[in-house]
Amino acid sequence: MDAYDALPKVELHCHVEGAVRPSTVVELARKNGRSLPTDDPTELYRYDSLNSFLDIFWLVQSLIADRDDWERVGYESIVDAAPHGLRYREMFFTPARHLAEGQSLGAIVDGLTLGVEHAERETGVRCALICDIDRAFGPSAGLELVEQLVSLRRSGGAEAVIGLGMDSTERGVDPRDFAPAFDVAGRGGLKLTSHAGEDTGADNIATALDALSISRIDHGLAIMDDFSLVERVREARIPLDVCPNSNVLIANKYERLEDHPFRRMRQAGLLATLNTDDPAMTDLDLGKEYRSVAAALGMSWDEMCEVSLDGVEASWLDEGEKRRVRGAFEAAIAEIEPPEVAASA
Ligand code: ADE
Ligand code: ZN
Repeated sequence: MDAYDALPKVELHCHVEGAVRPSTVVELARKNGRSLPTDDPTELYRYDSLNSFLDIFWLVQSLIADRDDWERVGYESIVDAAPHGLRYREMFFTPARHLAEGQSLGAIVDGLTLGVEHAERETGVRCALICDIDRAFGPSAGLELVEQLVSLRRSGGAEAVIGLGMDSTERGVDPRDFAPAFDVAGRGGLKLTSHAGEDTGADNIATALDALSISRIDHGLAIMDDFSLVERVREARIPLDVCPNSNVLIANKYERLEDHPFRRMRQAGLLATLNTDDPAMTDLDLGKEYRSVAAALGMSWDEMCEVSLDGVEASWLDEGEKRRVRGAFEAAIAEIEPPEVAASA
């Protein structure tokens, strides 16, 4: 087995809707009576900006029509990732569009939970869920979603959902408008994270930290433009779940992976981890993410093992679980024959 696939990994930034197999996209469209502009969805998977990606992402999202569909995409997202070393994931789902069309949050969460539990029995990969607010739907839809989620959890209906996040379009959106929703979520016992600094500047990250009390940053790419923010985030050991291939292919922030600051982020002392974001929509898997980043940025095998172990620290597992998983990762890493030459993507 390839060393980068064998390397045990945590993933903290993966959208279940962005992990839907192209063949499943076609089958769901057929099942739900929806037409697609093409029989080969991968023809649509080229983006020149985050917003152009989101148009396609929303199309894929709209095909997930009922509880069975959620179960299927949850299940497939994990079994597809397992051969590439995934051991534990905290996975986003973004239900705003589905709720607006009349689906119930309970059915969505039930379906996803059944799917990921089924996959866990088959693969041993564990998966918790993070419910994302869709910024494009605005602050009041966000608050309503969180109120529903908190009450579902109180009635024991959403145990797998451990956190609240926020994604979708970043431009022209002020994170402060979503503070009431994050406040309700935090008081309801959810962990908090948010996409920030993916498509706009470092001030977007600082505002999200200050206004939303997040304990993790999704992407956080722009942080390197603000030295004092780097210091703040490094000292507080706030994790950043970074997605270098996505930043090239989706947000178009760099022409080449070689230009990505991931290694510089780590050299600056940041707890920056590696993630795929939307693997099926970028022809990616977690092994390829690690392999391609190692090759492009000249990172050694030992550095990549550190990235893997930092994924455990950056997770929302409790301290006892982290110790146990870290021990298991160290034991697995000791058994892997390191790649002999510099990795190639
Ligand atoms: N939804 C899915 N992928 C996303 C990304 N990279 N940024 C914002 N929203 C997303
Ligand atoms: Zn994302």
